[in-house]
Amino acid sequence: MTGGSAHAGPPVPFPAGPDRLDGMKLELRGITKRFGSLVANDHIDLTVEAGEIHCLLGENGAGKSTLMNVLYGLYQADEGEILLDGAVQRFAGPGDAMNAGIGMVHQHFMLIPVFTVAENVMLGHEQTKLGGRLDLDGARAKVREIAARFGFDIDPDALVEDLPVGVQQRVEIIKALSRDAKVLVFDEPTAVLTPQETDELMEIMRGLKASGTSIVFITHKLREVREVADRITVIRLGKVVGEAEPTATNAELASLMVGRSVDLTVDKGPAKPGEAALVVEHLRVLDPRNQLVVNDVSFEVRAGEILAIAGVQGNGQTELTEALLGLQPRVTGDIRLDGRSLVGLSPRRMLDAGIGFVPEDRKEDGLVAEFTIAENLMLDREDEPFVKYGTLQLNTLAEFAEEKVREFDIRAQGIGTHVGRLSGGNQQKVVLARELSRELRLFVAAQPTRGLDVGSIEFVHTRIVQTRDAGIPVIVVSTELDEVVALADRIAVMYRGTIVGIVPGDTPRDVLGLMMAGEHPSTAGATA
Ligand SMILES: Nc1ncnc2c1ncn2[C@@H]1O[C@H](COP(=O)(O)OP(=O)(O)OP(=O)(O)O)[C@@H](O)[C@H]1O
Ligand SMILES: [Mg+2]
Repeated sequence: MTGGSAHAGPPVPFPAGPDRLDGMKLELRGITKRFGSLVANDHIDLTVEAGEIHCLLGENGAGKSTLMNVLYGLYQADEGEILLDGAVQRFAGPGDAMNAGIGMVHQHFMLIPVFTVAENVMLGHEQTKLGGRLDLDGARAKVREIAARFGFDIDPDALVEDLPVGVQQRVEIIKALSRDAKVLVFDEPTAVLTPQETDELMEIMRGLKASGTSIVFITHKLREVREVADRITVIRLGKVVGEAEPTATNAELASLMVGRSVDLTVDKGPAKPGEAALVVEHLRVLDPRNQLVVNDVSFEVRAGEILAIAGVQGNGQTELTEALLGLQPRVTGDIRLDGRSLVGLSPRRMLDAGIGFVPEDRKEDGLVAEFTIAENLMLDREDEPFVKYGTLQLNTLAEFAEEKVREFDIRAQGIGTHVGRLSGGNQQKVVLARELSRELRLFVAAQPTRGLDVGSIEFVHTRIVQTRDAGIPVIVVSTELDEVVALADRIAVMYRGTIVGIVPGDTPRDVLGLMMAGEHPSTAGATA
């Protein structure tokens, strides 16, 4: 159990009654959903049997989230119908879907951070006791009961904001189950989880299945699919293109998803590193709670090499990259790029100094949802060629945006589409397209392929290697060992705010795993 601040309540007896609920069969028939001229779902048929884990696979923008939003009553289908145990349903909103037994575990931020677990679970379907008081005790008991059923270690009175992401996700699960959800939808739940949390979620899904719950599971990680799926449906460009068996290979699944064969290993020659371009010395970062989240970190990145920063989420990587970009207020130590100190520069000046940055949280730091694709592509670049004599050069911008949309395969109606309307993966591509088309002296990418489909990962990895080969120093922060191993020339492993060691790019994964748990490279078996 990873819940650092989630303490178990008093022991609760195992709930009475049958363990196995009656399952429910879900059928989507001919679901069509259009947004203007764009057909996001084109006559999609999907059947999920009671008590099965059904994986929905498809490239970025294929229409997976849209289909699930239709199922959850957030969108109305233009055509088609939803059946539960053979009966046609009409969902005017999520309330109807919930009442019919559909639950959705949102990726994040659907909970209210300053409320407790029990309050969040109660929210939206408040049970009132006689006299009109909210039944918080009832909600607490419900949380304990469901938590006990699945072996979660959750304190009903813990504040949600104090819980790690993985535990917050369990609160979402409890919330859905407290409304007797019989079909649970997980839309990319593992994108933000640590490997351990992911394994635990897989266990939870198996437990749900054993108790009769049907699950629709969306992920881009093929390993996870093969691990838990009973059946797999693949959609592409809004249409079902096929079903696959969980025994299918990664390569088979990948080519079914993107409609071509995908090179799952990065084509990367040896690095030809030059001088140390970025030099970081004794960097310390204090967080708002006065914790030393980056503790005396020193490293160099040479021109033309990729330094990967590996580690379990939350070991200071985020704060480290933010410090490099001037986004952390309380920083000591030195950061020099090409001999020039960067400490104290504003983020704006950092960008002007030629630093490309892909932030970990694109919604918060990377994009303006209400702006169009074109506008987002020119953020922080309000100078030539886009602005001349104080006037925005619309044609230049349009040409540039069209080119980037093609090059990065950003799926949208057009460059005038608001970024908030794009699928998750396509939003990420907008950030990458913008940052990789600056004139760069340093490229820092945090979780660059989070949420991307396998085809897009191949493309982005290739672009990152090309950036290196153009002689630019590159830092890739990733919690995905696959990504670290694929890209790194050298690997720095972070643990509790420090770098436990910097090792060659071909260091075996088990050694990296030990280092990620805090072991020194020499005892973990690495050649430093
Ligand atoms: N509210 C909306 N308005 C306009 N277009 C939308 C809206 N929601 C989704 N779309 C479009 O519908 C298409 C399907 O998007 P969807 O989010 O369903 O993709 P997805 O399969 O979930 O992709 P990803 O793997 O990137 O999350 C995309 O082209 C997207 O831009
Ligand atoms: Mg999606």
